[in-house]
Amino acid sequence: MCGIVGYIGKQSAADIIFDGLTRLEYRGYDSAGIATLHQNKTEICRAEGKLKQLKSKLQKNALPGNVGIGHTRWATHGKPNEQNAHPHHYGLFTVVHNGIIENYLELKEALQKKKHVFSSDTDTEILAHLMNEEFQQTKSSFKALQNILKRVRGSYALAILNEKETQQVLVARNQSPLVLGEGLGENFIASDVPALLPYTREVIFLKDGEIAVLQPDKIEVFNNEGHTVNFETKHIDWSLTQAEKEGYKHFMLKEIFEGPRAFIDTLRGKVPADHSEILLEDFKKTIDQYPPELIYLVACGTSYHAALVGKFYLEKWARIPVVVDVASEFRYRKPILNSKTLLIVISQSGETADTLTVVKSAKLQKAPVYAICNVLESSIAREANGVFYTHAGPEIGVAATKTFLTQLQALLLVSLCWADHQNKISKEALKTILQETAELPQKMELVLKQAEEIKKLALHYMNSNLFLFIGRGLLYPIALEAALKLKEISYIFAEGYAGGELKHGPIAMIDQGTPVIALVPQDESYEKMSSNIQEVLARGAEVLAICNEQEKSLKQKCKAVIEIPKTLDLFYPLLAIIPLQLFAYHIANEKGHDVDQPRNLAKSVTVE
Ligand code: M6R
Repeated sequence: MCGIVGYIGKQSAADIIFDGLTRLEYRGYDSAGIATLHQNKTEICRAEGKLKQLKSKLQKNALPGNVGIGHTRWATHGKPNEQNAHPHHYGLFTVVHNGIIENYLELKEALQKKKHVFSSDTDTEILAHLMNEEFQQTKSSFKALQNILKRVRGSYALAILNEKETQQVLVARNQSPLVLGEGLGENFIASDVPALLPYTREVIFLKDGEIAVLQPDKIEVFNNEGHTVNFETKHIDWSLTQAEKEGYKHFMLKEIFEGPRAFIDTLRGKVPADHSEILLEDFKKTIDQYPPELIYLVACGTSYHAALVGKFYLEKWARIPVVVDVASEFRYRKPILNSKTLLIVISQSGETADTLTVVKSAKLQKAPVYAICNVLESSIAREANGVFYTHAGPEIGVAATKTFLTQLQALLLVSLCWADHQNKISKEALKTILQETAELPQKMELVLKQAEEIKKLALHYMNSNLFLFIGRGLLYPIALEAALKLKEISYIFAEGYAGGELKHGPIAMIDQGTPVIALVPQDESYEKMSSNIQEVLARGAEVLAICNEQEKSLKQKCKAVIEIPKTLDLFYPLLAIIPLQLFAYHIANEKGHDVDQPRNLAKSVTVE
């Protein structure tokens, strides 16, 4: 995800900012830039690619000045090139921004009508234009910022320079982290603590809705009405590595806890505040242009498990037949592809070789391709006719966690968008589902609150050498995914099975004390799953049930239960996988494994 660093003091701003940006490199980015103020002029250097590209430019043209802002960009709007790299400058103002301005198109159009010319495709650039407009009226950067924040919708961490006010930097935050660092005669800004640690350990975590003004020897914080607020300075004693993981022991654990935030970011800009529709114009265009008769959902690993859930969503809402396959099989089995078959591929990295080959061969056969990817401008995203970017942010742990949640969310939105576009769902039903979508992050947090109990269970079962996960319907793919999570990081043999399949073979593996993790649905297959639980209990299994909080009868029979807040059936997979990601994590961690980089695995599998 993007990184911000800012400085005001007596030292070379560009040097400190560059150093800070290198400490945020672990978060992933595709371009970078720095702006400084010197003698009432703005100096900017930006480069596509990694910081070494920026460095070689800075070596040729050093940026003078003791005040500046810098940014590493992980593209969301517009390609990852120099033109779209931050900082964005217009008139007097220069801006760096993390987050997404949801109504930027509407604001951009209004500015274009007033003859504003834009030099990038980003949502951020409009902020520099708006600051200029407001400043002309208010003659105060602070008031201008207050006013523009009333007009923008979305998430932001912002740092802003005005070349006529060289002794201050303005910052603001809403749903995107921003930290201020206090020094002696100098102050610092960063999106994440690691960038500050070599310079100061005294930090102020800005809160949503707050604006701050930094001068070399003063920091002032205001609420969104412009009133001064008292802030607390915290002393940070984390090591640099701890800080990168925000205090979590592993990236995987941090990323599991980022699930609710990733979900919110994925939803951003796709559903209006009145929950009346789904704004996936790209997708509607694809299905209008090539009305499909059949869908192939193709992916690998965790993304394949998301595809299995996607089949339920698409068949239920879009009422179209769906065939799901793993890319490494699909590519060799001569599937029937033509302009009436829509290929939907799912890939977090967008670089998985097997999936990419499927995309290329579908295009050769004139089949339209829609991709669900997390990494912007990845190879698969570039090849596809349309893309749904999940915006989960970079995922560093090899085991996919938060990105799986956002893939499920993407598939649900695509299915509902299709149903709505073709009047296959009533407006009321759509609204009910979309309203529940907005509630889901809080429900995810409730599941995460059980982390300690889940850890205890994991430690209790960590020495078992076999785990069986059972699910039905929408929860069968979750059983597969839970088993994959456990296998890939704990190296314990685990299998996911459809509950009804137990009697056709796997039940023979059940012995005294075999741990069986049952995903208990809240829909019509509840009774069936209860019977499956009885079957394994009768053979000595110890059952750990993931079930609805209102479930009573299973609690007596099972060794333990993990409760999931009540939600619509179709959202149950998104809540049910979270405790199982934590379960796998704690077993692997307790075994002392390299959780973030498990043996024999790579984050992006770019070879066949
Ligand atoms: O980047 P992709 O989604 O295409 O990756 C697919 C699989 O390689 C990936 O999901 C893999 O199974 C993960 N290690 C699962 O945690």
